[in-house]
Amino acid sequence: MAKNKNIQIPMALSVKIELFKRGCFDFITVKDGKKHEKQEKALQILTDTEHVELLYGGAAGGAKSWTGAAWLLFMCLCYPGSKWFIGRAELKRITQSTLITFYKVCNQYGVDDTLYKYNGQYNYIEFYNGSRIDLLDLQYKPGDPLYERYGSIEYTGGWIEEGGEVNFGAYDTLKTRIGRHLNAELGLRRKLFITCNPKKNWMYETFYKPAKKGDLADYMYYLACLVQENPFIDPDYIEGLRTTKDKVKKERLLKGNWEYDDNPNALCSHDAITAIFGNLLALVTDTFYLTADIARFGSDYARIGVWKGYKLVDLKCFPISKTTEIQTCIIHFQKKYRIPKWRCIADEDGVGGGVVDNCDIQGFTNNSRAFNDENYQNLQTQCAYKLAEHINASELGVDPDLVSPADMEQITLELEQLQTWKVDDEGKLKIKPKEEIKQDIGCSPDWRDMFLMRCWFDYNEYDIPDDIENRLSGLMS
Ligand SMILES: Nc1ncnc2c1ncn2[C@@H]1O[C@H](COP(=O)(O)OP(=O)(O)O)[C@@H](O)[C@H]1O
Ligand SMILES: [Mg+2]
Repeated sequence: MAKNKNIQIPMALSVKIELFKRGCFDFITVKDGKKHEKQEKALQILTDTEHVELLYGGAAGGAKSWTGAAWLLFMCLCYPGSKWFIGRAELKRITQSTLITFYKVCNQYGVDDTLYKYNGQYNYIEFYNGSRIDLLDLQYKPGDPLYERYGSIEYTGGWIEEGGEVNFGAYDTLKTRIGRHLNAELGLRRKLFITCNPKKNWMYETFYKPAKKGDLADYMYYLACLVQENPFIDPDYIEGLRTTKDKVKKERLLKGNWEYDDNPNALCSHDAITAIFGNLLALVTDTFYLTADIARFGSDYARIGVWKGYKLVDLKCFPISKTTEIQTCIIHFQKKYRIPKWRCIADEDGVGGGVVDNCDIQGFTNNSRAFNDENYQNLQTQCAYKLAEHINASELGVDPDLVSPADMEQITLELEQLQTWKVDDEGKLKIKPKEEIKQDIGCSPDWRDMFLMRCWFDYNEYDIPDDIENRLSGLMS
């Protein structure tokens, strides 16, 4: 669509454009005497000069799509020549759903199709005044993990719709692409709008958790909006959510609960995992075990746990890898709980190897073969599945005095990462790879590793009788 300055804007629309520019959003957020307060707040943040990133939603039906569409529509109309994007994991979903909302919004505010045109071949919306919205496909492509395909495009601002479907790399790249097109000239702060339902991915780590703790950076904002806060919603919509039998869906979409993750690949439910803390049913025996995940690259924690049966009864964590301290701690625990060396294990990769040698304990090699020729990709995978079994059977326990609330959150997060993964060519069972986990939760799952090593003993339960010396000498005489 060629830029056309001769187009006549209807009076009613001119007024709206002027109002929007002045930060008066009532014509959007008030209807039949009811005001959508959260939508109002979202539009304020999206047009202020203080904030850069806004995460909005965290439940269904809060008007996420409407808010995004109305914001971009009026930014385009108010600021000629500005350039925006709408990104989603699948382009098809933008054209089938987000674009439909966009048309409805245009219709609602009297923006007819002489003022903009959608180019279905190259997927962009162009306005009569030269403003433009690109529709971006944010699908993760193995050949382009860092989203370099968008690495040089310049935008005034943009909107990631359904952030739960979008990979961290897309967010990380797109936030560097905004603020690069006429922002200074138009006096616009760079903006990234992200709409979402709850999802334990980068949004949880980067927005939700810090916002809950009160230490989200000043330029970022998390605005929660539940369906009940949307005065324009069809009551049937809420009823539908309220009567769903799917607990996880209800928690996430109706109540906006971020702790529930709707992941069909999860091996344990959120409820089963949180039940491990102070679990009255934990399998407690008279046998102690020690498992240690040893920090490999400084950033990770070394964690040493003592188990009485399947209950974690003692714990020590080291923020950086100090091999001698770790060894001293292992020996201390061995003596304190009388744990023989064949019931102690540490991961043997990296620094761990030295500790295993020096303490003369069992070594755990992630990549070694599964026991009994079972159909797992490797030993770690086998133990991860076993761990999930114990959690689901309510056998695993953690003494709640050992861990802080923050630790509990982290342990829960890591155990939720026990997920099945696509089977390989040989049909062996896999779990979600560590690299993927790091992408999603931002750190290495050290707790999980320390926990899953406990399951090594399920396959290596050997008792060495006290009188072995006697019997040996008997045999030799
Ligand atoms: N400002 C508004 N004016 C009129 N209707 C609105 C407005 N904002 C939201 N709605 C209505 O609320 C409903 C839910 O909005 P939608 O954006 O689809 O929610 P979400 O994307 O959060 O699921 C839709 O029916 C939409 O038409
Ligand atoms: Mg929507």
